[in-house]
Amino acid sequence: MSINSQPYPHCGSQSVSPLGKGATSCDQGISERSHRNGRPANLPLHCRHHLFPQRPVRRQYPSYESSPAPHLRSSQQEGFSPESIATTVRPSSSSPLSPQGKEATPTDVLRRPIEETPKPSFLNSLRKTFNAIINNFIDPAAHRPSVNPRYVLAHNWAPVGELPPTPSPVVRGRIPLALRGGAYVRNGPNPQHLPGGTHHIFDGDGMLHCLHLSAGSDDTAPATFCSRYVQTCRYLLEREAGRNVLPNIFSGMNGVNGLVRRAAVVARVITGKMDLSAAIGLANIALGYFGGRLFALGEADLPYAIHLSPSGDVITIGRWDFGGKLSMGMTAHPKKDPSPARFSHSKQPDVPIFSVRHPSYLHDFAITEKYAIFCDMQIVMETLQMVLGSGFPFGTDARKVPRVGILPRYAASDSDIRWFDVPGFNPVHTINAWEDDGGDTVVLVAPNVLSLEHALDRMELVHCCVEMVRIDLRTGAVSRTPLSAGNLDFGVINPCYLGRRNRYAYLGVGSPQPMVAGVMKLDMVKKGVDCVTASRMYGPRRFGGEPIFVPAPDEGEEEDDGYLVTYLHDENTGESSFLVMDARSPDLQVVAEVSLPRRVPYGFHGLFITAAELRAQKGKP
Ligand SMILES: [Fe+2]
Repeated sequence: MSINSQPYPHCGSQSVSPLGKGATSCDQGISERSHRNGRPANLPLHCRHHLFPQRPVRRQYPSYESSPAPHLRSSQQEGFSPESIATTVRPSSSSPLSPQGKEATPTDVLRRPIEETPKPSFLNSLRKTFNAIINNFIDPAAHRPSVNPRYVLAHNWAPVGELPPTPSPVVRGRIPLALRGGAYVRNGPNPQHLPGGTHHIFDGDGMLHCLHLSAGSDDTAPATFCSRYVQTCRYLLEREAGRNVLPNIFSGMNGVNGLVRRAAVVARVITGKMDLSAAIGLANIALGYFGGRLFALGEADLPYAIHLSPSGDVITIGRWDFGGKLSMGMTAHPKKDPSPARFSHSKQPDVPIFSVRHPSYLHDFAITEKYAIFCDMQIVMETLQMVLGSGFPFGTDARKVPRVGILPRYAASDSDIRWFDVPGFNPVHTINAWEDDGGDTVVLVAPNVLSLEHALDRMELVHCCVEMVRIDLRTGAVSRTPLSAGNLDFGVINPCYLGRRNRYAYLGVGSPQPMVAGVMKLDMVKKGVDCVTASRMYGPRRFGGEPIFVPAPDEGEEEDDGYLVTYLHDENTGESSFLVMDARSPDLQVVAEVSLPRRVPYGFHGLFITAAELRAQKGKP
């Protein structure tokens, strides 16, 4: 683990980013049909370089299929019938699983004819027989709903195809001035090919759903909606191959295939024939905007630079290493200090942290004016399990005492970090942090994951309780106060208050996580009683996502002068919309709604890019 910072030259602010984590496994081999000299023929040069760092040889990746296997056949081979998946997919007007945006229902896609027949061989037959026995009798995915495509890709989690910029009418209210000309973008998993076996919700290719709001004085003018895949190296490679090829982090290593692929991947990484980080990056978690660029983020890989065109289209520029200054994966939750006084134009040296004994799952962190704050949780990396066991890269360590690490933001080494035991405190996300008592106390607000053992495997069983943790830097005393009893996560604040004391937080109501049945506004001044001060529930079978706060400085100087935005999906009608809620009103009143041209699958994190930020975008270098 180490710490990076990137300059934000356009806005005078700075990010601090812990390195992310990578993991393993290889799916199916690349066919000779789709490659020349062992490398994908049509991949952009930067992807070829990252995926194939050595001089090209034939069959750079292991091939365990004697011919390309369409995803339909893969499903059958691994014990999942197309019908069994399709029956769980809600019919929709949208078009799943087609990178070209062709209209097709999930069932249509699953019933595509098999194009080629694998070469019969005794070893192939033997392997498939063992695989079928394991997948159907010994370790069936049905016993692990978190990796069973029947459940993972059901209802509005079913993927959709790309959609070019499409007009989207304002059907209720008016778009506030603060939002006009800006764009709301949300990231999320959207597998371009059906999984051949197990599939975890985190394993889908990143797709960006962008709603570009009209500029000008007409506050009811139609917006423009667009859905595009993040064109990661992995996405391009598998698009060309026509099937899943590369390893998944959270699934894809079950059965005999998994054992063999694990060994093959480890061997190829060790011998330098495979750059695992470039091969596994999905860019499907979140978004960030800094230095005049929008980035799609996933901590297993470098960021991918994105350009939003004036027409409303979403264009992938490419894998981004900040001029060679970033060599490993970056957090999906970088922090952007709003204070120009704390701006740095240059990237700080990395600060490796060796005082973490058992590497933990570090998905998010927090900053104050002076410190970066990391939570050393009981969710830990399980390298041996990943390589030799189930293939799942994370586990829980009940014997471990969670800690909070506080590191000066400009520390030269981890000798400056101070760790404080906080038993039972396991936040995957943070909301905000600041210094109090003249700098002698650090305050951290975060949703604490209860029933931690289910955090990554059975998210529907997770309950997140927002807590305020106060750490006295002089005495080491730690105090904790729950702020609400609700199951709340995906918390945001007014971004102008990041790293400094603030009053309001806005969180999604898990029902269950990561689906969001409503939004609650917490007033942290009410600490000691339940801090919910305003809320809006979306109604039966209507689910939104992470609420994003957009400041409205023209309407007032209070912290909550602004709007909350999210996509909303109505499972009763199969329709999706974009909601704008007034963050000041006691019922978070809906002030505008845009009808979207088709359903938007549930996803993870989003971002609102203002009109000024869109204009300041840098293009392709
Ligand atoms: Fe996250």
